[in-house]
Amino acid sequence: MSESNQMNILLLGSGGREHALALALAASPRCAELFIAPGNGGTVEVGENVALDAEDPAAAAEFARETGCGLVVIGPEAPLVAGVADAVRAAGIPCFGPGAEGAQVEGSKRFSKELMDRAGVPTAAYASFTDEGEALAYVRAQGAPLVVKADGLAAGKGVIVATGLSEAEDAVRSCFGGEFGAAGATVVIEEMLTGPECSLLAFTDGVTVRPMSTSQDHKRALEGDLGPNTGGMGAYSPVPIVTDEEHAAMVAAMERTVETLAAEGIDYRGCLYGGFMLTPAGPKVLEFNARFGDPETQVVLPRLENDLVEVMLAVAERRLSEVELSWRDDWAFTVVLTSAGYPGSYEKGKVITGVERADALPDVTVYHAGTALTDSGDLVTAGGRVLAVTALGPTFEAARDRAYEACELIDFEGKTLRHDIGLRALRGRDAWDA
Ligand code: AMP
Ligand code: GLY
Repeated sequence: MSESNQMNILLLGSGGREHALALALAASPRCAELFIAPGNGGTVEVGENVALDAEDPAAAAEFARETGCGLVVIGPEAPLVAGVADAVRAAGIPCFGPGAEGAQVEGSKRFSKELMDRAGVPTAAYASFTDEGEALAYVRAQGAPLVVKADGLAAGKGVIVATGLSEAEDAVRSCFGGEFGAAGATVVIEEMLTGPECSLLAFTDGVTVRPMSTSQDHKRALEGDLGPNTGGMGAYSPVPIVTDEEHAAMVAAMERTVETLAAEGIDYRGCLYGGFMLTPAGPKVLEFNARFGDPETQVVLPRLENDLVEVMLAVAERRLSEVELSWRDDWAFTVVLTSAGYPGSYEKGKVITGVERADALPDVTVYHAGTALTDSGDLVTAGGRVLAVTALGPTFEAARDRAYEACELIDFEGKTLRHDIGLRALRGRDAWDA
């Protein structure tokens, strides 16, 4: 690759997903300088962390222009919803990530549900409310179980799966009471679905859809899939329990969604994330996200054989039809190490040890999320999800064992993890039957 093919790249975000994206982008011969804004204690080793407000469209576009970036990649949802991709494209710079209109697939659960209806995509039956009294009356009429969702962005925490009536009522009250801020001004109430979950991420340029390999997150904080929802406690890829028929149905749902967005004049270029539940009546969409998943990215990207810069440029320049994806045969497994107390309040600034030893194990990569480097060079905790420890292996079990082996080498005060990531998949499909 000649040097003239190289470009500077700006990546926005600071999570484990962004560390994984940063490593994949930096591995491309097309990447010259990589800037990560704001980045974390891991991305600082991959490129240059820059103190930039990632949610300020004008600031991001200006930085990309000044540094001559040939590609801007947006990791998290907040900058997408804020319109950063629109500003970057308006500045004439190729951008991976939908504009504010497209980001509504994630930014508004109501928009997302209405889009699914128009696209004919199977999803849970629902109703949406802006009035607390009407929402409570609906809850009482329907009866439990029900799922109560704050409409807007709530960092994966604005969803309450209520098994009892009083729990559902409390959830409605806390949404309208401001627990999720402005996100809770509209509340979506859904029927509760059952079955294994499966994440299907897809690259799309708004016309062509290239599904990535399947992955499965573990959303609940506690072992046995108990406790509150979190951003995600662990994942693996591919998902062994998905049938070919289910896979085809999921891909079709993604394609119909992209077609509907395009028909409605919404220019969607980036990653579309379908969160599915494999119900007895077939796969149904629980949610769409307008970005890569976290921690799904930490198991999907290590298996992608393509040059990520080439794929993302093809997305940004609307020529994804030229690209075919290819995947390593290995299984990938990640375990998230969190700060005690997450997803509630937790302490920061705890010194982390053992990351280098864990990272040095064969087939292991430790992705940083909530970490920071102190002035004296110590690696410390700086968030709820601290690290995602990923291992590859020739079998599901081998990848799983290696990931847990690596987790044991890492320590910090309050280190918390689930030890049962992937256990159900090992037991087979029956493990999801009630
Ligand atoms: P969401 O942010 O909409 O994906 O919801 C977060 C998590 O809540 C999902 O990954 C599921 O575990 C759970 N969930 C959401 N909607 C439903 C539903 N209708 N039935 C059962 N569980 C759900
Ligand atoms: N892992 C769930 C998400 O990224 O939304």
